[in-house]
Amino acid sequence: MVSIGIEGISVAGSDLLAQLDHLRVHSPEMHRRIDQSRLHSWQQEQEAHEAIRDDFGSDITGGRGSSYVRAQQLNVDARAAGIRRLIELMTQRGEGNQAIVDLLGGDGLVRRVCSRIGLPDVEIMTCDASPHMVQTAWATGVPALLQRAERQLFRSGSVDGVLLAYGTHHIPPALRQLVAEESYRVLRPGGAFLLHDFLSGSPMDTWFAEVVDRYSNTGHDYAHFSEDEIGRYMAEVGFDFKTMEIDDSYTATGVTPDEAEQNLGEYLVDMYGLSKLVESLGPHQAHRWAIEQAKSIFHYPEQPGMTSSSTVEQLDDTRLWTCTVPRRAVIGIGWKP
Ligand SMILES: C[S@@+](CC[C@H](N)C(=O)[O-])C[C@H]1O[C@@H](n2cnc3c(N)ncnc32)[C@H](O)[C@@H]1O
Repeated sequence: MVSIGIEGISVAGSDLLAQLDHLRVHSPEMHRRIDQSRLHSWQQEQEAHEAIRDDFGSDITGGRGSSYVRAQQLNVDARAAGIRRLIELMTQRGEGNQAIVDLLGGDGLVRRVCSRIGLPDVEIMTCDASPHMVQTAWATGVPALLQRAERQLFRSGSVDGVLLAYGTHHIPPALRQLVAEESYRVLRPGGAFLLHDFLSGSPMDTWFAEVVDRYSNTGHDYAHFSEDEIGRYMAEVGFDFKTMEIDDSYTATGVTPDEAEQNLGEYLVDMYGLSKLVESLGPHQAHRWAIEQAKSIFHYPEQPGMTSSSTVEQLDDTRLWTCTVPRRAVIGIGWKP
């Protein structure tokens, strides 16, 4: 069973070599998969990339990384059901302990969720392009590496799974094929690549355009996906693949229905860095505004096994109320022949 396993470690998010030294100690199996010959050229590229936009830098540097992390830490379970589904899909054909590279790993949420829900036999390697996120991951006990998804550090054929999820639209369209190629390269034969994002024109697309782009400091002008686009990347590289939609709802709990809704509103405000809302309405009203917007934007056609509209209900005997805002993600899952 995966565990977070280490005490918080202070390491600079920009210092890849120091991160690798710690990884050698805390996860020698994962460290052995690093291609040492790629490190030098990667570091040179990284220096050239320093000016690249980082939406997930700390809030004081103009990013929304600090409030994003706060959201995940206050409500680790908000997206746990969707994360579980992604990992189960990726590991369904594998055997034994499976090494999965989480390309957009942020502060390590996927690893943390796998640990909390006790998914057996997966070792999630958190990677991210934002030094702030990598530093936060280590500080909270998650080993992490500064890596760009389009320039992976692992040896060819060395890992069982590559996850590209919860932010794939941040990869510019011109680089998306390269990410698929790199993922194919690092996978062993039979390994799985899972690409997750949201359909263009979907409620999530509307949320980003009408709420996040207007009320966050970073804005949010990114192109989402069609199933055809995902299929093209998969086919071009040579994956045996399928595409589908999955339920990937948000949830929060509270001792009253109102508190459950309010807590989900807070999660959304923090996750998407809706600081302009907080400045004009104050935190409490901003949280209420966000949940009301979410309830009106996130609606889907009825489909078995999927949530269609927002609900607030008592789901178990804890007497807590759970607020669920439905969301559907589109995924492509490809296996390397
Ligand atoms: C929305 S966050 C997701 C974090 C985490 N997986 C979660 O679900 O909470 C997206 C992450 O992708 C990272 N990212 C964006 N473009 C990237 C790239 N080209 N390579 C690696 N990471 C990237 C960002 O820095 C950010 O931490």
